[in-house]
This record gives sequence, C-alpha cells and structure tokens, in this order.
Amino acid sequence: MSPLLTPSAVYAQRRAAIGRALQAAGGGVALLPTAPESPRNRDSDFPYRHDSYFYYLTGFSEPGAWLVIEASGKNAQSIKSTLFCQPKDLEREIWDGIRLGPEAAPAELGIEAAFSVDTLAEKMPDLLANQQAVWFPFATHKGLETTVDGWLNKVRARVRLGTECPQSLHDLCKPLDEMRLVKDPHEIAILRRAGSISAGAHVRAMQTSSAMLRSGIEGGLREYHLEAELLHEFRRHGAQFPAYTSIVAAGANACVLHYRAGNTELKAGQLCLIDAGCELDGYASDITRTFPAGGKFTPAQRLLYDIVQAAQEAAIAVTRPGQRFIDPHNAATRVLIEGMLDTGLLAKAKHGSVDDVLESGAYRQFYMHRTGHWMGMDVHDCGDYTEPGSEPQPEKDALGQLVMRKPSRILKPGMVLTIEPGLYVRPAKGVPKKFWDIGIRIEDDALVTPEGCELLTRGVPVKAGEIEALMRG
Ligand code: GLY
Ligand code: MN
Ligand code: MN
Repeated sequence: MSPLLTPSAVYAQRRAAIGRALQAAGGGVALLPTAPESPRNRDSDFPYRHDSYFYYLTGFSEPGAWLVIEASGKNAQSIKSTLFCQPKDLEREIWDGIRLGPEAAPAELGIEAAFSVDTLAEKMPDLLANQQAVWFPFATHKGLETTVDGWLNKVRARVRLGTECPQSLHDLCKPLDEMRLVKDPHEIAILRRAGSISAGAHVRAMQTSSAMLRSGIEGGLREYHLEAELLHEFRRHGAQFPAYTSIVAAGANACVLHYRAGNTELKAGQLCLIDAGCELDGYASDITRTFPAGGKFTPAQRLLYDIVQAAQEAAIAVTRPGQRFIDPHNAATRVLIEGMLDTGLLAKAKHGSVDDVLESGAYRQFYMHRTGHWMGMDVHDCGDYTEPGSEPQPEKDALGQLVMRKPSRILKPGMVLTIEPGLYVRPAKGVPKKFWDIGIRIEDDALVTPEGCELLTRGVPVKAGEIEALMRG
C-alpha cells in the first residue's frame, strides 16, 4: 500500500481486503459495531474511545455507528460497505459536538452508502436476507449475539416467501486479527510518531525527577508529579490519550507489576520505574524505563540494571524475520538467569546451571512475565501468538506441565512487538539484602523489518551511563 494514499483510500483498501477474505471463505455479510459510550458517574462518561476493529476499517471515531460489508459475490466490484451513523441533530450537536451524519459520510469516508443508525434494526433483515453467512466479532460486544439472533429470526420468518436465511455464523475477528497483525505503511508512520512522543515524555520525566530532587520541592517529589509530566508531553504533541494507565513506581512499588502512579515520595538513591505510552490517532506506544530518581545508580542497582539491559539486547538481536515470537523471550530469559546466578540472587550451589534454572523455573521468583506482546491499535494488540496452520506439539507450560501447543508465531516484516525484560526482587530469605525492593524493567517497541527490527521508541536513552548523563543535564 502506498503511503501517499489519502486516509479514506487506506480504509477503503482495508474494507476491500477483508471483503476479499470473506469471499474466499465462502462469502457472506460482515457486521461490526463501534464501541458503546461508557458512563463514569452521573451525567459524565469516560472519554470516548472507538472500537479498534471498527476504526481500522472506517477511520470514523463517532459513537453510535455500525459498519456492514456485503461480500457475497465473487469479485471485488461486488463488495459493498454501508455505514450506519448518528443522524444530524442540532439539539444534540449543541451539547455533544458536530456529527458527520449519513448524508456527508459517503464522500467523507469513501463508503458506498450511509444511513441513520435509527434505521439499523429496520434495514438489517434486508441486508442479511439471501446471504450465505454472517460474520461478526465474537465475545467482544455485550449482547451482540442476541441482537444478531433477533435479526436472523426476522429473516427466517420470511423463508416461506422464498427468502434464504444465512446458514452459518463466523468470528469476524479471525480474519481481521490476521490483517491487523501486519502493519501497513499508514499504521507504521503513526506508530513511529507515537513512539517518538512517548520517548520525549520519558526524557521529560527523567529530567524533571533529578531537577526537582536537586532544587527541592515542598512536600517531596511524588509519583504523580512525574505522571503529570508524561501527560503534559503526550497531549502537547497532539496525542489524544495515554494508551494505558501510566505506571510511575517509586522504589519497591516497581515490584508490583500493575502498579499505577500513586502519591509515594521519590527519594534520591531510589529507582523509579515508569511504564507509560501515548495513544496517537488510534495507535499505542508502550515504553518502560527505570532510572535513579536523583540521577545516579547505586552499585547494586547498576548491577541489576545492566543485566536487564543485556537481556533486552539479546532479545533485540533475535527479533527479525524467520525467528519465532518466543525467541526474544528465550534469549532474554537466559541472560537474566545468568545474571541471577552471577549476582547470587539464585545460589549456584543450590540452583546449578542456566539450563537447570530454566528447567526448574526458579527464575520466576524474579522474572515472572513474558518478554513481549503484539502492539498496534491496542497496546496488547490482536494476532495469534502461534503459527497458523501448524500442528500442536508437546511443550512445557509456565508451571512446567506438559501441554500440546502449536509452535510460536514466525516473525514477519510489519509485525510490531514489545521487548520488555525485567527483574523484580522482593525481600526474601536467601536473597542478598542489597538487592531487596529493586524492580527494573526496560521496554521498547520493535517493528520487524526485512533486515531485523527497528526500535520505534529509542528517543529516550536506555544505557545506564546515558540515562545518568541525561539526568545531569
Ligand atoms: N504497559 C503494558 C505492558 O507493558 O504490557
Ligand atoms: Mn508492554
Ligand atoms: Mn509497558
């Protein structure tokens, strides 16, 4: 796909591609609602966020909309998209904002037809009549199955008049997930910008941390001060939202994997772990940096930091086409285990070699998560983690039990994944005290390229010495 396409042409190409995929699978009609609005408290909603699949195929982010793609014919020309959207309504638009409306939608979005969403229930039986199959996202929209059932009942009631009713229901997420897994140039351009904005936000937070600790602040430097810097930087560059709730974790809080930014005081001599990224034009970024709040690592912090950084480098080195999704995890885990044995986090006399620790799973005391996930419109993006079409094989699961699993997905150019090894040391018997309460994670977003991978988030330094230099500046 050419990066010079207008956005509406990009979405039209995606609708054509999914239409062809449905035709190849026997044809049918696809139904896709966007996300509902969600109340936060009385008269106040959560900020509205479209459904990712819906936006992927329309570029339309108003609530109260549905996309219907008819793909029953044999050729690309017979594929037809219809949008149902909120009708123009002066009274509502005064309160909630301008609506595109069905009259303007075809020209604006490059869609074949558009109607008011108020006519959806009335028109849907006609759209479903004489179709082979219905495709809609399974288990993602509350009550959708029941709604589709109701429409199919209406079609069935006309069977005696010669109408045919769809014979089968299919999960629309399946073909869409495969498409979304490999990013097109339009998506890659946005992901690069999102990564760069988020990297700038991490730089700002690091610099603010050391500057505020140097100059002093009444009441102390708190996690929420740094969260505010992140949000300021996201928004001032046009990012609409954080892609997920920011983690700003002082000292021991970093050992809580899903910690949120709270009000704990950050002190010089402590580490701060920030896991935060913006969402720009519907696309996420996901960065973690761990830095000394005052700008200088202690020897014990530095020892563990360098191990995590080496683990990330080992993972990056095997992030390239032909490798499997699990290979960066395996590479990082080996380096982390070597570090655990060298530093005495795991006693060699008790735990043996790297292979012994891999086998026993003892490393999970300090490293209990995977090294990455797909990333795209959703921070944990869609896409199978196993290779489609492959046969299940025996493999050990996280608890060491033998299970049958398909082999891990083979990486291809255009896939985007995070690389995020870490070490988390909770106080425990046998663990050297100097490491207690240290939590470190380093995370970057990698685009698989034909040659290897491009890190989209390296606008913020990662090497310990470079972080210290930045924080001195
Ligand atoms: N920030 C979410 C994650 O790293 O998976
Ligand atoms: Mn992540
Ligand atoms: Mn993250």
